[in-house]
Amino acid sequence: METHKQLTIGLFGFGVVGEGLYKVLQQTPSLKASIKKVCIKNPGKRRNAPASLFTTDKNDILNDRDINVIVEVIDDANAAFEIVATALKNGKEVVSASKKMLAEHLPELLALQKETERSLLYEASACASIPVIRNLEEYYDNDLLHSIRAIVNGSTNFILTKMFEEGLDFKEALLLAQQLGFAESNPKLDVEGFDAVNKWTLLLNHAYGIVERPDNILFNGIQNIQAGDAAVARSKNQQIKLVAQAKKLQNGKVAAFVLPQFVNHDEHLAFVKNEYNGVVIESGFADKQFFYGKGAGSFPTASAVLSDIAALRYHYRYEYKKLYHHTPHALSNDIFLRVYVSFDNLALIPKEKFEWIEEWHAQEERKYLVGVIAFEELKTATWWKENNTSLVLTPDPVIEDVEIRKLKKKSLELAGVVG
Ligand code: HSE
Repeated sequence: METHKQLTIGLFGFGVVGEGLYKVLQQTPSLKASIKKVCIKNPGKRRNAPASLFTTDKNDILNDRDINVIVEVIDDANAAFEIVATALKNGKEVVSASKKMLAEHLPELLALQKETERSLLYEASACASIPVIRNLEEYYDNDLLHSIRAIVNGSTNFILTKMFEEGLDFKEALLLAQQLGFAESNPKLDVEGFDAVNKWTLLLNHAYGIVERPDNILFNGIQNIQAGDAAVARSKNQQIKLVAQAKKLQNGKVAAFVLPQFVNHDEHLAFVKNEYNGVVIESGFADKQFFYGKGAGSFPTASAVLSDIAALRYHYRYEYKKLYHHTPHALSNDIFLRVYVSFDNLALIPKEKFEWIEEWHAQEERKYLVGVIAFEELKTATWWKENNTSLVLTPDPVIEDVEIRKLKKKSLELAGVVG
């Protein structure tokens, strides 16, 4: 594609994001990008665009030689993968916002980009309006990135804000998130953490060169959080957020997970409310940096798609520097987490699985404990998500293997067991 060539777009999907992009492009004529055709599933729906723009046949777009850019913003991950794979093979540049598809097919998509030498850009797929993928890809050197903590799902953050700060109940808050176009068409993907872990899969790749299946990353959503948990948070001047976290360990590997977490009121992530997302990066020399912006919604998401389209004008491609130009990092399970667990029935909590328990609160309305547990136990067991049990990480929850051994030795020494 020579510089500043007219971009002729074939768009797949005309939902919240697709229609947003259509409107945004009308307001940015300087971009020299126009939509030639839009492929939709349901031709019966009323749409705010001329009927001649639409088709239901994907080949009208994929086989059109004039169309040099495919923008794919549909809901169905399998269909999205077929479209993106065919488009790349047909020599087209691709912009996608389908985080589920991208996360589930990351290895194949990496191979396809190498094979076809075409661009596949997907800034909108994580944190919507925040340019986090391109920043991780371009700006941060592998060895300097100590940790990333982020709120990557707008709907759950919106629901938590509305429930615990404005007194709405869960159903009302979710309905509002759906009405505002933040939630996935299957809201279980938001609420139970699937959407967040899909986004985290993509960000782990651009941050650390990790290629991992989303279902191999420890995650949960906010479905088990109770009013009693929020009351405990308030009493400690904290909030509960769904936090995606990655931390480089002393052994050179990376610990990563997406779990509800208590966040101190003066932390950057505590500032992130409603559908906003936030990313806190800690690196060697820059120290702490905070990215903040809308993580869901029509125009904020379309803005990231637009930025990718604009980047195609100067032939931008992800180089996957951390994967191909550095030594990629591996994920580690060799850590321990300091967790808060609240429950109805203590008999259903396997106390022996904890390394130690630091707090017991049996008298509260909602019973809870705070203890240290192996990451591996949470990855393999399910008791902590069942029987009305709720698990929330404490602030700064990661304890490394080497530290735990030191702490255990010290406590044995104190107990007089070893000299
Ligand atoms: N359902 C997603 C969210 C939309 O709430 O974050 C943006 O990816």
